[in-house]
Amino acid sequence: MDEKHKIEIQPGDAILKLKELENNSIDLIVTDPPYNLAKDYGNDSDSKSFKDYIIFTEAWTKEASRVLKPTGTIYVFMGFRFISYLYQILEKENKLHFCNWICWYYTQGIGRKRGFSPRHDDILMFTKSKDYIFNLDAVRVPQKYYRSINNMRGANPGDVWEFSHVHYCQGNRQDHPTQKPEGLIERMILASSNKGDQVVDPFAGSGTTLRVCQQLKRNCLGFELNADYVELTKKRLSEPFAGFDSTDPKMERVPNDLNDSEIREEYIQNHVDWFLKNHDNARDEFYKKVQNKHSKDKI
Ligand SMILES: C[S@@+](CC[C@H](N)C(=O)[O-])C[C@H]1O[C@@H](n2cnc3c(N)ncnc32)[C@H](O)[C@@H]1O
Repeated sequence: MDEKHKIEIQPGDAILKLKELENNSIDLIVTDPPYNLAKDYGNDSDSKSFKDYIIFTEAWTKEASRVLKPTGTIYVFMGFRFISYLYQILEKENKLHFCNWICWYYTQGIGRKRGFSPRHDDILMFTKSKDYIFNLDAVRVPQKYYRSINNMRGANPGDVWEFSHVHYCQGNRQDHPTQKPEGLIERMILASSNKGDQVVDPFAGSGTTLRVCQQLKRNCLGFELNADYVELTKKRLSEPFAGFDSTDPKMERVPNDLNDSEIREEYIQNHVDWFLKNHDNARDEFYKKVQNKHSKDKI
């Protein structure tokens, strides 16, 4: 592993572990706490009473806010049941600054017969102050059209992010009920931290945040209550890397009107470097799309 960054998973309770960290010492927190929907994480952490869940959320967010640097950012995943309470707690109790309400849109999920089938989770992004890190160039997405006046380096990805769940048949699927797609976490880490920065995930689960930080050369410290998930994370971190397990479909988009073959050739090379840097496994699909679109022309 690169000597310059440290990836560490520790067993234990998030609140107690956060208490061990110094004030204003962490650049970025990316976390996905239990949503309190009675999922089985091998403990009863997802089955609290309403009141206890609020007390738990107040306690861990208080510590998380304390340890963030003044330029730091926190992203928190949350389900519909508690997101409004979480928002209040972050803004009113912890005095953090609201930055974005991100919608993670997924195309597949459970079906409902009465009511609409849920197809998104939400992610709240708050910062400790108004002076925070945001690397837009690191997270741009391909333009829809080639135009000389367009910034072909890409567009702002917006606040609706499409990523599929990690399917059970995928090689990187871990034995954890709520594993998140790596591509989703990649965008948060790239936007809100720099190489060598310190990231924390207090509810590490199968270690997705740690795995992404490992590849993006950030330091990462994770906490996890279930010792089996700690072991699973250690194994995941030791595995060879073949690209992140999920890609925003926009990243494989070939802009329309790339008619000049010289410009197209240069663009295609840039596209791979800009948008598919950590996604070797998505390159073939992109090249196929280029072929389909420009089959009559020399590529
Ligand atoms: C929603 S999952 C995180 C999934 C993770 N983002 C991933 O991609 O695998 C929440 C995790 O928090 C853990 N957890 C619950 N209460 C905890 C606590 N008090 N301290 C540390 N971890 C806890 C659960 O065991 C579970 O693995």
